[in-house]
Amino acid sequence: MTELKIPNHIAIVLDGNGRWAKKQNRPRTSGHKEGAENVIRIAKSCKKFGVDTLTLYAFSTENWKRPASEVGFLMDLLIKFVNTKLKELIEEDCSLNFLGDLSKLPAKTKEACFDAIEKTKDNKSLVVNIALNYGGRDEIVHAFKEIIKKGYAIDDITEELISDNLYTRGQSDPDLLIRPGGEIRLSNFLIYQLAYTELYFTDVLWPDFTEDDLREAILAFTKRDRRYGGL
Ligand code: IPE
Ligand code: IPE
Ligand code: MG
Repeated sequence: MTELKIPNHIAIVLDGNGRWAKKQNRPRTSGHKEGAENVIRIAKSCKKFGVDTLTLYAFSTENWKRPASEVGFLMDLLIKFVNTKLKELIEEDCSLNFLGDLSKLPAKTKEACFDAIEKTKDNKSLVVNIALNYGGRDEIVHAFKEIIKKGYAIDDITEELISDNLYTRGQSDPDLLIRPGGEIRLSNFLIYQLAYTELYFTDVLWPDFTEDDLREAILAFTKRDRRYGGL
């Protein structure tokens, strides 16, 4: 793929875990487990293809509406993910980062996140952002509060200042958004950052999404004409 223009930053909505499990008469949680396994596979593929940043939507500010047992499972899964996969991510020279309001997470989940950030902070090959208790609208509200706290005046407010106060501060906007799982919507993901991102939707469910599916999405991206409003 080296001859093609590779997106620097890919964002993925990790959707379809529950339906994947249902298709096999298994509990929804087994879909989440398989979805977490797939994170490592796709992170490796992204690194192989030369992507710099991979942003994964793992738990939204709206996902708290789900049954407490599923929410609890997902919070524990994150801890297990960090405990079992951190070594592999370090070997792959990936740094882990989290986007969202982590303050609302259970203490143990939060600790696992901070531990992963600390242990991977110097890694350079791929940045993996996990959006956890993330909502695009919540992120904008948070950014406004930050800006006001810092004492900026009306004339200081610029698009750049807003970007600098989002959870993604310092990172480029995604070039390509992939949503597996068949839904054609953003579900409150990166609504500020996706202004000029190329969108790609597929019916493949996230646990089934392979390196070949990723290649296909990147190939579609390479055929897009990004005009940014110009000619
Ligand atoms: C995505 O899979 C994972 C989370 C939102 C945590 P879903 O759980 O939404 O799976 P479906 O959409 O019900 O199949
Ligand atoms: C979006 O998936 C959120 C994540 C994948 C984390 P949902 O399954 O929550 O989205 P909706 O409900 O179909 O919009
Ligand atoms: Mg879903």
